[in-house]
Amino acid sequence: MKMDPLGEVYLSAKEIQGRVKELGKMISAAYRDKELVLLGILKGSFVFMADLIRYIEIPHSLDFMSISSYEGVEGSPEAVKILKDLDESITGKNVLIVEDIIDTGLTLGYLIRHLEARNPESIRICTLLDRSIRRIVPLPIDFTGFDIPDVFVVGYGMDYRQLYRNLPSLHLCDVRV
Ligand code: IMP
Ligand code: MG
Repeated sequence: MKMDPLGEVYLSAKEIQGRVKELGKMISAAYRDKELVLLGILKGSFVFMADLIRYIEIPHSLDFMSISSYEGVEGSPEAVKILKDLDESITGKNVLIVEDIIDTGLTLGYLIRHLEARNPESIRICTLLDRSIRRIVPLPIDFTGFDIPDVFVVGYGMDYRQLYRNLPSLHLCDVRV
């Protein structure tokens, strides 16, 4: 019989919303009177992004990128491919990358180097979850929702084999099942 990998709630919808609201306020204060573009990394960040922008009180635009992960290829930057590029130019703009979770940092490290070549005014990072214990590529993270230990989580946009993105809370997930 196939076992259900979905585990108990790790962060409730209410805890997440409370923190996302705080992040929205911090971002609003940090970018007042600046031209801000939020850059969501698909697919995992789309739920976080949708909530976050409703707590940001200053004008801003949105864009999305989709990049392939480097799964199975040990840290080779060539393995990160851009599947969907930005729609608008970021030259001279303040880019805030919005991520669901930063783990090794390999994907984002590659992406930032790539985006810097387009001469934005600034690039900063906002992540809901930071699994900092697993970091390989050091990244300055400006806005962090929660630091998490080495557990695999799903829900609130995050998946295991493309499932569970719809859950309003974050759950532990047993990836061995
Ligand atoms: P890394 O920082 O390049 O290692 O990759 C981070 C990406 O892997 C995240 O943006 C997620 O898409 C995915 N990921 C890492 N940990 C988890 C998890 O616990 N649940 C769901 N996706 C994860
Ligand atoms: Mg992601």
